[in-house]
Amino acid sequence: MRHAISTTEDSVAARVGMVGAGQLARMSLAPATALGIDLHLLAEADSDSAAQIARRVTIGDHRRPDDLLAFAKGVDVVTFDHELVAPEHLEALAAEGHVLRPAPASKRFAQDKRHQRERLGALGLPLPAFATVAAATEVEHFAEANGWPVVVKAARGGYDGRGVWVMDSSAEVAARWPECTAAGALLVEAFVTIERELAVLVARRPGGQAAVYLITETVQADGICHELLVPARVTPGRAAEATELGLRIAEIVDVAGVMAVELFETTDGLVINELACRPHNSGHWTIEGAATSQFANHLRAVLDWPLGSTALMADAAVTVNVLGPPDGVDPRDRLPAALALDGVSVHLYGKAARPGRKLGHVTVLGDDLADALSRARHAAALLTGEATS
Ligand SMILES: Nc1ncnc2c1ncn2[C@@H]1O[C@H](COP(=O)(O)OP(=O)(O)OP(=O)(O)O)[C@@H](O)[C@H]1O
Ligand SMILES: [Mg+2]
Repeated sequence: MRHAISTTEDSVAARVGMVGAGQLARMSLAPATALGIDLHLLAEADSDSAAQIARRVTIGDHRRPDDLLAFAKGVDVVTFDHELVAPEHLEALAAEGHVLRPAPASKRFAQDKRHQRERLGALGLPLPAFATVAAATEVEHFAEANGWPVVVKAARGGYDGRGVWVMDSSAEVAARWPECTAAGALLVEAFVTIERELAVLVARRPGGQAAVYLITETVQADGICHELLVPARVTPGRAAEATELGLRIAEIVDVAGVMAVELFETTDGLVINELACRPHNSGHWTIEGAATSQFANHLRAVLDWPLGSTALMADAAVTVNVLGPPDGVDPRDRLPAALALDGVSVHLYGKAARPGRKLGHVTVLGDDLADALSRARHAAALLTGEATS
């Protein structure tokens, strides 16, 4: 492991260690700086999104217990920018007396889709029909009972639609089964006819004090989140129901820090998709759009400090993700064109442009959701080269 040069820590309010140095860690750096928090990162490489700009970076491997332990020793509290640290390694850190927020048992709800489904299902919360599966024939039996298509998911390690397979027939299951089993433990669930996808973002302190943001509407394509609309275009009753569900799940999970619950709105009501125990893509609008961003509230929550207001700062906030375009255009080269638009906040993550990769996002606030959406889409299209003026 390599440690970055360390200077005096006398003036530091707190030392937070974040395992992972992707864009979520990168966007945590500004609020950490504002609050005088020393944010230490465990990065895989100098080139990681947040490692490029952070001062306290340890290069190490989150799969190695020794690297995790050495990293934890240098900070007051350990938190995460991803879900990938093995549960047994988290338990080992906690057993050594390190403060993990969220705690390993909370994190498991986000790390293991089987665990999440089983625990929330046992409490009677709304989930799609599901089953754990170990063989293609079990998927077929599930489909016979619940109908095609079905959705096979990796219990662990999936993101941005990787580890999610929609299957239409036995033939498709047979053809894709090797790819599925390579992803480890699996579950299958009923394909939900989704009217709209929503996310509830909750920040919660260890003692239980919680702050919830306005419900976010998320627009996905090919398993990847493309757009965020706030307020979500749902009835007040549905928004209240989603808020209540998010807060209830935060209690059940006993999360410390920010948690996002992804929901499907169907004609029959809300269904839980999955949850994340960390700042989440669905909360990127909060940087400009909320009085306190998800990144600031995550730091405050893991330090057990008072949470900030989650109030929306305009009538509407829209975020559009900037995904690497197929022709390899690099949004960094198009930045001035997007910045020339009025009222557009651009965030680029310092990642090399690859097709489909999340390279940044733009946020627009306004007094009208449709207008903010069209301006944000325009800015994103300028960055990806899909628009030239
Ligand atoms: N049971 C389902 N029925 C219909 N669509 C589904 C179902 N499960 C997932 N999807 C679709 O696939 C997307 C990705 O699924 P999911 O959120 O489980 O995967 P993920 O790759 O872990 O996502 P993330 O990038 O949010 O971590 C969902 O946002 C939704 O659009
Ligand atoms: Mg998801």
